[in-house]
Amino acid sequence: MTSTVTERTERARNIVASMRVKQDPVPRPPGPNGLKAMWTMMAGRRAPHEFFGALAARHQPVVHVALGAEHVHILFSPEAIWDVFVTNGRHTRKSLGLQLTRPLLGDGLLTADGATHLRHRRAIQPLFHNKRIEGYIADMTAAADLTSGSWSDGTVIDVAHAMSELTLDVIGRTIFGLNLRAEAQDMAQALNTVLEGFARGIGPLASPLSRVPTAQRRREIQAIEELDAIVGQMIAQRTRDIGDGYVGSDLLTMMLTSTDDAGEASFTAEEVRDEAMTLVLAGHETTALTLTWAWHLLATNPQWRAWLTEEVDALAEPPSTADHLRQLPRTYAVVAESMRLHPPAWIIGRWLDTDLRVAGWDLPRGSVVLASQYAMHRDPRFWSDAHAFRPDRWLTGEGTFDERAPRVPRGVWFPFGFGTRRCIGEHFAWTEAVVLLATLARRWELDVQVPADPPMMSAITLRPDVPMPTVVRSR
Ligand code: HEM
Repeated sequence: MTSTVTERTERARNIVASMRVKQDPVPRPPGPNGLKAMWTMMAGRRAPHEFFGALAARHQPVVHVALGAEHVHILFSPEAIWDVFVTNGRHTRKSLGLQLTRPLLGDGLLTADGATHLRHRRAIQPLFHNKRIEGYIADMTAAADLTSGSWSDGTVIDVAHAMSELTLDVIGRTIFGLNLRAEAQDMAQALNTVLEGFARGIGPLASPLSRVPTAQRRREIQAIEELDAIVGQMIAQRTRDIGDGYVGSDLLTMMLTSTDDAGEASFTAEEVRDEAMTLVLAGHETTALTLTWAWHLLATNPQWRAWLTEEVDALAEPPSTADHLRQLPRTYAVVAESMRLHPPAWIIGRWLDTDLRVAGWDLPRGSVVLASQYAMHRDPRFWSDAHAFRPDRWLTGEGTFDERAPRVPRGVWFPFGFGTRRCIGEHFAWTEAVVLLATLARRWELDVQVPADPPMMSAITLRPDVPMPTVVRSR
């Protein structure tokens, strides 16, 4: 038996309560008045990333915002970001915002801290070794071919849905050894409802932990239960398979069969559930967003689309090996530029577990520190033509792709986070995004019919909050 949504919510409330420690009054960095900040964030809920962008324009290394009892510090100095997230990473915990995801994710890799996090990270890491990822490339191409086969010239699709279905298929085949394509629609709908709740969670209503039984709250709980049921079925199926003699090296087989030195199961049913939920969600939603924005940017910048097409057409066959990927520097560059302008993880936070001097200010234990990929990836102090889609900034003089090519200081470019909490799926995501984009771009042009800056939903990820109608054109 695993826990219910109510039980996980109660645990999350207790954790949040334990993080609300009394902080002595100390001088805090300058920032907007708390009420005004709160109001602006609530009013601009569909674009709080713009709120952070506006704060960045004040050119302060750190801005303080008092949100209720919370002292939040937003860092705009790359040195300060590096100092907190990397150098002092071990003195921090995941921030309050992420605790709101516990009713859904439980104590999985994304939310766990300390010894639990380390034990799980070590156990799961082998699934993401370079050699394993090379072995996933053929599965990724096969999934893209299935999507390709379902399109015909002139078909209108919703590109966000299509990319989400495709990346769910990929994570299913590779990490879980299961076919999840059939679950895509139910999962997308439920996830949407849950993420709306998280978006509302920014602010005093904190919907995911709310005790007020509004209709919206009931819908959120039901949506989490639906996701629980899907993940529960995945685990039940794999448990049956193992009983029938199945031998595999996927996440579930690994977690369900692993034993410690005393021969006891290494992971409880709850731990298996939490990691499965974390990897199925973290492992597909972010890459789907990267691809959705890549198609959008290519559609609105036809000269760069032609630049990309020239490269993918030069491949003799769809990319299916690591060697093929080395021939796709422009595709990597488009993926990088998509994540620069529209980082799927747009803000990350830490809770200080010790008093810490940050950007010249002595912040007491319990302070919250945020760094926004959205703000730093578009900061004109570090990027030329910061708001323009210019994928060639990622290429070296020799035409190879290099994340260091734009020569920005460390602490400015961090789509996958930092240090020991850096994304476990980073290499997987690069490989996947490049394989899927190149495979589809060889056959199709996607005409995304959405204006340049659609309304956004800023929850854990930054996602368009409108349908994304797209005409697919055969090439
Ligand atoms: C473009 C795609 C992706 C982006 C932009 C992204 C971004 C991130 C970021 C920023 C973090 C750190 C969060 C923090 O420090 O609070 C993170 C962590 C994580 N990501 Fe990703 N991710 C992507 C794809 C994936 C994929 C494909 C998987 C799995 C298959 C994955 C699984 C995870 C997990 C499990 C963590 C927690 C790691 C830990 O703390 O040990 N992500 N991701």
